[in-house]
Amino acid sequence: MSKRWVRERKREPYHKQAKRAGYRSRSAYKLKQINDRYNIIESRNTVVDLGAAPGGWLQVASEIVGPSGRVVGVDIQNIDPIDGITFLRGDLTKTETVDKIFKLVNKADVVISDMSPNITGNYSMDHARSVDLAEHAYEVANRLLKKNGNFLVKVFQGDLFDDYLKKVKTSFGFTKVHTPKASRKSSSEVYVIGKGFRG
Ligand SMILES: C[S@@+](CC[C@H](N)C(=O)[O-])C[C@H]1O[C@@H](n2cnc3c(N)ncnc32)[C@H](O)[C@@H]1O
Repeated sequence: MSKRWVRERKREPYHKQAKRAGYRSRSAYKLKQINDRYNIIESRNTVVDLGAAPGGWLQVASEIVGPSGRVVGVDIQNIDPIDGITFLRGDLTKTETVDKIFKLVNKADVVISDMSPNITGNYSMDHARSVDLAEHAYEVANRLLKKNGNFLVKVFQGDLFDDYLKKVKTSFGFTKVHTPKASRKSSSEVYVIGKGFRG
């Protein structure tokens, strides 16, 4: 991280807003904005959050589902515990991690993934790695979601994107590609929304 990047990040309005509101990441606002518009997560849902560290999405998801819902987070990196949230540390591309998720959660209403590869700066490599993570998230969603469940996944745009989207479209009644306002203008990330899992 360059000093300039850190300086600019601190000046950034969503960064400040997140800090004031006690959210662990500015990404929290991406999930809030997406959910306000597309209603992916509802009260009392069971939500599985892939690539959950440091926990901004977990905080937002937990507010939405309320005390009768359930939120489970997974990440390679550890997080500081959050009240009422189950956290599983592991690499989602490994079968053993996926098996552990299925032991914890039988069926989920919603699977969300904000997983990002370590950015190398090589655009096509970062894109390919992001699509690979999004593929794993899609596989987990396909096995875990209840009928009519919802899916949200981050993908970096590039030439593999259209094929990925086609695949997601086969599993959901409604799909949409969306970039929330809280995404940085310079970022190539988009969010794929799938609603109404066909089962
Ligand atoms: C942008 S951050 C997620 C931010 C999170 N949504 C929040 O609001 O705090 C992306 C996360 O994906 C995780 N990640 C990347 N590859 C992963 C993998 N193979 N398995 C699990 N997590 C992974 C990273 O460790 C990182 O914490």
